[in-house]
Amino acid sequence: SSSPVKVAVTGAAGQIGYSLLFRIASGAVYGPDTPVQLQLLEITPALKALEGVVMELDDCAFPTLAGVEIGDDAEKIFDGVNLALLVGARPRGPGMERGDLLEANGAIFTAQGKALNKVAADDVRIGVTGNPANTNALIAQRNAPDIPADRFSALTRLDHNRAISQLAARTGSSVTEIAHMTIWGNHSATQYPDLFHATVGGRNAAEVVDDQAWIENDFVPTVAKRGAAIIEARGSSSAASAASATIDAARDWLHGSAADDWVSMAVQSDGSYGIPEGLIYSFPVTTSGGDWSIVQGLDIDEFSRGRMDATAAELIEERDAVQALGLI
Ligand code: NAI
Repeated sequence: SSSPVKVAVTGAAGQIGYSLLFRIASGAVYGPDTPVQLQLLEITPALKALEGVVMELDDCAFPTLAGVEIGDDAEKIFDGVNLALLVGARPRGPGMERGDLLEANGAIFTAQGKALNKVAADDVRIGVTGNPANTNALIAQRNAPDIPADRFSALTRLDHNRAISQLAARTGSSVTEIAHMTIWGNHSATQYPDLFHATVGGRNAAEVVDDQAWIENDFVPTVAKRGAAIIEARGSSSAASAASATIDAARDWLHGSAADDWVSMAVQSDGSYGIPEGLIYSFPVTTSGGDWSIVQGLDIDEFSRGRMDATAAELIEERDAVQALGLI
């Protein structure tokens, strides 16, 4: 069969990595006929734990896993990669301010952007899961001037999937009956999950629900704060679902979204829907053959407009903060 695709995963010894690697290795992104070479990046102290994960990957004897390389040097690990999933990031520690968090992650994503710029394959696609995902993607993108800007995206697919699941539960439908879900903006509490364009069994979701108070006071905050609810229940942050969304996003980006549907992806704004150009903002997009395009022509009502602008304002603040730090 064909020669292996090279997939880099950063933060590979972390929680998300522990779900993500096994799914990629078993063919969830490229299918059963494409061998995958995993290129796993970690910080030095985590390499021993990562060796253990690699032992388990070996023990799965996945037919689609062609090989695994691990290391702490981004230029070595990103060499020739076709897909880079940037999951590793610095979590907010006790007493850490927002600025400290942006700075710590800035150091990681400037270095990784530069390394990708230098050594990644010409067709590389880069998906950022590590938080703050949108701004980390912006930092990596701006530090990789030779890679086309549209090759970078940040993950809002988990929010998208959460929104589908909440809407299905509310309307007593199955997730397969729901289409045209959209997450607008930042992967943060300001994100705006939009029911005004979503459909349930082909009918407009907001009309099916017919309860603006539920949308505003229940649906939107439940989706936006789902991460916190999972930490509260599980004692640690969502990992398997984040890995699954990372897979969904990469698979659909490379192999195309469903013909009669779209997906949510945070990508560089071209000014669509009045969102400032250059921000990494989540839009409804269709994908095909590794390219994405923002769905055009949706009517935006006043309520949605306010939410879309509020989440854009937060991203502008984050962009200005990393600009002030000299990271972009
Ligand atoms: P984790 O803390 O279990 O794992 C992160 C791993 O990244 C650690 O093993 C750490 O050693 C590694 N790492 C740190 N700096 C690195 C560097 N410079 N290079 C390579 N590896 C590095 O965290 P978890 O649960 O796996 O989450 C990872 C990230 O994903 C977090 O930032 C989290 O907030 C984010 N996340 C994003 C979601 C989304 O929907 N966009 C959903 C859930 C989590």
